[in-house]
Amino acid sequence: MPSYIVVGGQWGDEGKGSIIAYLTLKDKPDMIARGGVGTNAGHSVFINGKKYAVRQLPTGFMQTKARLLVGAGVLVDPDVFFHELEHLKDFNVAGRVGIDYRCAIVEEKHKKFDRSNGHLHKEIGTTGSGCGPANADRVMRKAKLARDVKELEPYLTDVAAEVNDAIDEGKLVLVEGTQGFGLSLYYGTYPYVTSKDITASAIASDVGIGPTRVDDVIVVFKSFPTRVGAGPFPTEMSQGEAEKLGVVEYGTVTGRRRRVGWFDFEFARYSARINGATMLALTMLDKYDREAFGVTEYDRLPEKAKGFVEEIEERVGVPVGLIKTGPELEHIIDRRENI
Ligand code: GTP
Ligand code: IMP
Ligand code: MG
Repeated sequence: MPSYIVVGGQWGDEGKGSIIAYLTLKDKPDMIARGGVGTNAGHSVFINGKKYAVRQLPTGFMQTKARLLVGAGVLVDPDVFFHELEHLKDFNVAGRVGIDYRCAIVEEKHKKFDRSNGHLHKEIGTTGSGCGPANADRVMRKAKLARDVKELEPYLTDVAAEVNDAIDEGKLVLVEGTQGFGLSLYYGTYPYVTSKDITASAIASDVGIGPTRVDDVIVVFKSFPTRVGAGPFPTEMSQGEAEKLGVVEYGTVTGRRRRVGWFDFEFARYSARINGATMLALTMLDKYDREAFGVTEYDRLPEKAKGFVEEIEERVGVPVGLIKTGPELEHIIDRRENI
């Protein structure tokens, strides 16, 4: 697989961060490029017991040989960017990161508007990161671009050219998506969505590659889907029920408590289809079946957990190649060879 895309299949926070972290350490891609909206997304990863969260840079930062890129479609908030360079300095990020010079910039006024506007803040329940207003300015063709920000100059590059060159040379390129299918501006639960399409095709476009250049699309699902902010969630359970199941989560960016639901097979099928999934990744299987915690071989999974995986494969119609069974990177079953 010379190029593959990882996207979220539900409402974001499926644990893409931990799947991407595993893939970067296992497959050692030469290049990791981030697509998606911008700093509204938070991916968190546990490495040796320490938690790292990124909102701007690719989650694959821990593979210290890879070139790290932020595609032209992504919004850049210089404050967040420089904060992350500092936060991740142990991984020599500053020396290998590139931002496309065409990225649009999130400015202070966008953040203020996102946090004070009743429609965005109260009704839609946005992250307040300024992404929606910045994308609106971009569509109005009045946004500032990365090439206009002097401090970003040392990091500017042509991401589309770099990614296409790498694919031409047969290098391995991992493209990271953000958010999740249900938040797509086109296919999600409009108007309770984010400010862009974020399906696999859009993520490819964000980093400047055409659909014919993508070999695999991995769609990540969580055993108990979650949603933050307002909007329909047909399989939502009560907070009490979620607590009984031990599924209590808070947002990486906003700290808001996440709403929790039962796995929605029909929605997952729709999501896999529009994303053109070639493979699924399933996270939090240990929350569905405690006995699955830490298991690393498929055959050692308890029957209940196996039954769930098989039901997903059957009803969604796509094989499950990766299964997370706990928070650490090594809590994973990798059965990509068998599918
Ligand atoms: P994305 O936005 O999709 O990247 O997800 P996220 O990183 O926002 O989700 P969250 O902040 O909830 O982070 C996921 C957390 O759950 C990380 O700390 C992971 O280590 C942890 N995690 C990932 N997979 C599993 C799993 O299978 N079981 C358990 N118990 N924890 C997991
Ligand atoms: P915005 O993207 O900040 O405009 O927020 C619009 C909607 O998308 C809100 O419901 C947010 O909670 C949701 N959202 C945006 N990004 C993420 C994400 O990375 N994870 C989960 N929800 C998100
Ligand atoms: Mg997240």
